[in-house]
Amino acid sequence: MPRFLIWGAKGWVAGHLEKIMRSRGEDVHKTTVRMEDREAVKMVLQRIQPTHVLNCAGCTGRPNVDWCEDNKAETIRSNAIGTLNLTDCCLLYGIHCTVFATGCIYHYDDTHPIGGPGFKETDPANFRGSFYSEIKGHVEEMMKNYTNCLILRLRMPVSGDLHPRNFVTKISQYDRVVDIPNSNTILYDLLPASILLAKNNETGIYNFTNPGAISHNEVLSLFKEIVRPDFTWKNFTVEEQSKVIKAGRSNCMLDTTKLETKLAEYGYALPEIHIAYRQCFERMKAAGVQ
Ligand SMILES: NC(=O)c1ccc[n+]([C@@H]2O[C@H](COP(=O)([O-])OP(=O)(O)OC[C@H]3O[C@@H](n4cnc5c(N)ncnc54)[C@H](OP(=O)(O)O)[C@@H]3O)[C@@H](O)[C@H]2O)c1
Repeated sequence: MPRFLIWGAKGWVAGHLEKIMRSRGEDVHKTTVRMEDREAVKMVLQRIQPTHVLNCAGCTGRPNVDWCEDNKAETIRSNAIGTLNLTDCCLLYGIHCTVFATGCIYHYDDTHPIGGPGFKETDPANFRGSFYSEIKGHVEEMMKNYTNCLILRLRMPVSGDLHPRNFVTKISQYDRVVDIPNSNTILYDLLPASILLAKNNETGIYNFTNPGAISHNEVLSLFKEIVRPDFTWKNFTVEEQSKVIKAGRSNCMLDTTKLETKLAEYGYALPEIHIAYRQCFERMKAAGVQ
């Protein structure tokens, strides 16, 4: 039976993953050991002897990635040195390593315009507008050479509650929001898929979102329709947004063909993003989340 070790155990994604795994009776362990501490990493791997590491650790900045602009060494220590160190130690011990990475390494360009083809796993990163994304892009380039590594690119993750890290919570609380189609990761749909891929020892890079793209206004309209009927919001342009944030924000659609094809081998299908959001908000409503 596989033994899983969740890294970054106190994080938001880690908490959701652990809950699903425990409900399924998986042999799951967790740690908060710093990824860049090579000796401590080796010790915990030797002590727990996992077959699979699920790396949910990473420096994401508080309250948001703007923090990384002013704390570059700390960001590199966690997201470059730490992430690579953990992957490397896993390789040495013959452990499969799933990395919860980001798809925020792209932005729409002339060959991938809004409404056009999405970015494929093989496309080079083209978004350097934030230090967080820049480092994540560099690290993925190196990490993809590790034969034990499964890299899952999440974007704007959405949970079934209104946790502050939920993309819906964020955009529902901003004074003003941009309105651009994006790929989003509905955790309810994608986290079980991550367990499936890890268990089957899949490796390589996967765009890890629901298929399609949805705009901020479409998300908020569905939120208003299903969850909070009295909700209102205001828009602003990307130029206006750039005046209130320190780092740029990625806007893009990822191509999910590779992911969908792989999951179909295991009989698992992902709902298109508009359908997935509707289902997500229906679950929220049923759970009394407002
Ligand atoms: N949430 C998003 O919008 C989003 C989108 C795409 C991808 N991702 C990626 O998904 C992963 C999980 O995100 P999340 O939203 O769950 O973030 P989170 O809530 O901030 O959790 C990350 C956890 O990692 C820990 N951590 C940070 N640096 C570490 C290090 N060097 N060694 C060990 N643990 C460390 C943090 O602990 P401390 O607080 O003690 O440092 C925190 O508990 C991250 O890599 C993130 O980049 C997130």
